[in-house]
Amino acid sequence: MARVQIDAVSKEFGAHQAVREVTLDIADGEFLVLLGPSGCGKSTLLRLLAGLESPTAGRILLDERDITEMSPQRRDLAMVFQSYALYPHLTAAGNIGFPLKSRRETKARITQRVEEVAAVLELGALLDRRPAALSGGQRQRVALARAMVRDPGAFLMDEPLSNLDAALRSATRAELIALHQRLGATFVYVTHDQVEAMTMASRIALMNAGRIEQVGTPEELYDRPRSTFVAGFLGSPPMNLFPAEAISRDGELHVQAEGITAPLGLAADTHAGVTAVTAGIRPERLRIDPTGRIHGRVRMVENLGSEELVHLDIGAHSLCARLPRPAGVRRGDQLTLRADPADIHLFHPDSGLRLRWQSDTHASPAAVPVS
Ligand SMILES: Nc1ncnc2c1ncn2[C@@H]1O[C@H](COP(=O)(O)OP(=O)(O)OP(=O)(O)O)[C@@H](O)[C@H]1O
Ligand SMILES: [Mg+2]
Repeated sequence: MARVQIDAVSKEFGAHQAVREVTLDIADGEFLVLLGPSGCGKSTLLRLLAGLESPTAGRILLDERDITEMSPQRRDLAMVFQSYALYPHLTAAGNIGFPLKSRRETKARITQRVEEVAAVLELGALLDRRPAALSGGQRQRVALARAMVRDPGAFLMDEPLSNLDAALRSATRAELIALHQRLGATFVYVTHDQVEAMTMASRIALMNAGRIEQVGTPEELYDRPRSTFVAGFLGSPPMNLFPAEAISRDGELHVQAEGITAPLGLAADTHAGVTAVTAGIRPERLRIDPTGRIHGRVRMVENLGSEELVHLDIGAHSLCARLPRPAGVRRGDQLTLRADPADIHLFHPDSGLRLRWQSDTHASPAAVPVS
């Protein structure tokens, strides 16, 4: 069992700031996913937790004990890497038992623990094989078993599924979710795959250039992205973002851009005068409706099997709509779409931060970023 607290941690490599003042409180038993684009500092943060790197500033606490300077061996944490890093000359059993052997546990104790863990991961029949004689998924499970054998308070995993093919990845993903539920241990899991993050996480910490951009449940990040970065990172295809104006019309506030007018469901006096915003609408929230006021010309239709992605040119911008198939539209068609007021997100055009209007209709008309 472990609570992991990261307190204003930074890591510099020479002049490069890989992790910038990250603060994060990971509850005991949580499945926290560190998500973000390549190079944003996910692995560095995980290695700081594991003790494989030492922070330039800040503290790391494990169950309220300061472990910032503690050696990796003495931390009650087990790390699983993307490359399983199994010893090729040892059998599966030898690999799994290795952490106990280096702790000089008795042979009987090692055998017992290896068998227990192997049973959980259904590796019992494979214990005598060397890694070369195991499939990718089996090697992955051996690496997991090696992490589990010590009964760590927390598991740290760095893209553990990225070497697996699609079918095996989704099977192992389900296995990891089940494992987490069964063990009740804390998981800190690095990935740049948003499907993994959305399906596995109890909370996601989305990183951008060394900082945490937003922390929350998958639903919070998806439904109320704190910034255009979050809105544009999650979702496939991501949220449509376009420059627009917030205007009052017929007593109601609207978002308006070339070819697009959409009511926001807010009273006009929420806001006085014209204000520039960045507007966002998720592709799956657009639908064909002749009464709508989003008009565009179809540039391309992509068939996804169950759905179609319809790409539209609207003035100087393009929008993508994800529609049930068959949408019955073809390239060159004029199309009229609609989005519900609740599905329109507004961001500050400069800072990219979410505006407060939608949640707080009494807020000042000035663009107030969510703190
Ligand atoms: N030992 C190191 N020395 C110098 N720079 C490093 C070192 N380790 C990482 N970096 C740099 O720090 C930044 C963050 O690296 P990190 O490996 O944490 O990214 P990441 O989010 O895990 O990316 P990926 O998704 O590609 O694995 C990168 O710009 C990387 O080049
Ligand atoms: Mg990495």
